[in-house]
Amino acid sequence: MLKRCMTYLLKNVPNNINMSEKNTLLLNIKKNKKYKYIDDSLVKQEITKYLNANPNLIKFLDKEKSEKFKNIVKAVRAKLHLIHSSFKTSKTNIDQYLTKLRTAKNKEYLEMHDKILETSISAKERLKHYKGLYKKIFAITKKPKTIIDLGCGLNPISYPYMNIKNLNYYAFDINTKDIGFLNNYFKIMKNKGLNGKAKILNLKNTNISKLPKADICLMLKLLDPLEAKGHKLSETIITKLNTKHIVVSFATKTVTGRQMNYPYRGWIERMLNRINLKFNKITIENEVFYIIKK
Ligand SMILES: C[S@@+](CC[C@H](N)C(=O)[O-])C[C@H]1O[C@@H](n2cnc3c(N)ncnc32)[C@H](O)[C@@H]1O
Repeated sequence: MLKRCMTYLLKNVPNNINMSEKNTLLLNIKKNKKYKYIDDSLVKQEITKYLNANPNLIKFLDKEKSEKFKNIVKAVRAKLHLIHSSFKTSKTNIDQYLTKLRTAKNKEYLEMHDKILETSISAKERLKHYKGLYKKIFAITKKPKTIIDLGCGLNPISYPYMNIKNLNYYAFDINTKDIGFLNNYFKIMKNKGLNGKAKILNLKNTNISKLPKADICLMLKLLDPLEAKGHKLSETIITKLNTKHIVVSFATKTVTGRQMNYPYRGWIERMLNRINLKFNKITIENEVFYIIKK
């Protein structure tokens, strides 16, 4: 059954590779726990890109034990790591915090949220800033009734810091595990004013115009891992989104913790000027936020 699903999902790999070889490669890449939860559509795209760039390696796809096959697995995993897997701080089982959250009140309610947020590198860095940050953002955009969060990771768990009584929240990511977790979280939060839905979505093959309408779209620390080269996809997303504001953020420190030489992204400022979209900028310790008016 699993094999049949993979066959369906891998249709777009170059034509001169046979189906069972494609399946073997996908299964090998996903054998490692770190990549297990990345949606197949994205893994498939990275395989296709890699084999298109290295067609001489296609002949090794039926040689699972060979060095060359192992190198293909390594190279695609390295790309997936950049896109996705470097964003978690620990292997903590976060479901335990959800269980406690069901009955938590007052201090414990916020504590459980913080414990979950601390397991994501970006959310952890933002933890002491979230409250002030949302206040500053909403002073520009007004408090939203509906938010879309693209490449959301665990950011939706920062809801208590938004200080909004009733909010519709659409959360999208390619990480199947995070999406499952968020749907469980949203169930618990239903009677606390948060009406949320989380869905698997690969932005590289999505019709952006079909996403729900919203007051604000969050794209926090998403655009750098989304596009290795160029900014075409970022521009398409920003142009086609049906939201009143878009909040885009970037890290201002490297993964090793060093301050970047050019923390502001000149390209996005030039692009927004070119397509006539006004923006404000907010900076916190490790991150810069562009609040874009559509
Ligand atoms: C650095 S994390 C940021 C998470 C969250 N936005 C935050 O700032 O707390 C980048 C997120 O983008 C997601 N992502 C990467 N490529 C994606 C794609 N093609 N489609 C949807 N999400 C993607 C990853 O799974 C990951 O959760």
